[in-house]
Amino acid sequence: MKILIAYAGKSGGCRSMCELLASHLPRHDVTLLDLTESTLSPEAFDYVVFGSAVRFSKLHRAARAYLSTYKEALVKKPHTLFLCCAFADQFENYAEMLFPEELLRSADDTVYFGGELNVSRQKGLDKLFARMIRTSIIESEEDEAMLPGLLPEHVRLLADRLRPM
Ligand SMILES: Cc1cc2nc3c(=O)[nH]c(=O)nc-3n(C[C@H](O)[C@H](O)[C@H](O)COP(=O)(O)O)c2cc1C
Repeated sequence: MKILIAYAGKSGGCRSMCELLASHLPRHDVTLLDLTESTLSPEAFDYVVFGSAVRFSKLHRAARAYLSTYKEALVKKPHTLFLCCAFADQFENYAEMLFPEELLRSADDTVYFGGELNVSRQKGLDKLFARMIRTSIIESEEDEAMLPGLLPEHVRLLADRLRPM
């Protein structure tokens, strides 16, 4: 099966989870597409996994641009959506708010890939915000172990579902 994994992130979290997903699907013909660098129509593929990092409660600009060009084509393709975001409790709200309704309703699933707050990977103002969010979580939880992280186990579950297709 020809699978398109199209993602948009800024500091490598989405990319690492999408590369992990591709590595678990060796028998499929997988194309990894970093939407911040290039774009491709979903039409030539049998299945699409599409998602984005969330910053300031928004999808990455490249993911929004992709949706405005290819939403109709994506709705017609079998697909799974994902988000990378640090606030796990907001994942469902973000999915409802950020993905077009038709795309969400027609998706096989919408998967939470987790999210990290790695200050050293951020630049400029993002670094400042990442540090502020980290500090507020640590102060509210009083436990550094409560900091969010990426969720490779969710990626593996998705791979288990796609592998036999
Ligand atoms: C400046 C900044 C803003 C962020 N805003 C949000 C947010 O609004 N909601 C959220 O859940 N996570 C937020 N995050 C966490 C990111 O979603 C998380 O770092 C994710 O792993 C980013 O994926 P990427 O590395 O592919 O860019 C933010 C992170 C940064 C650095």
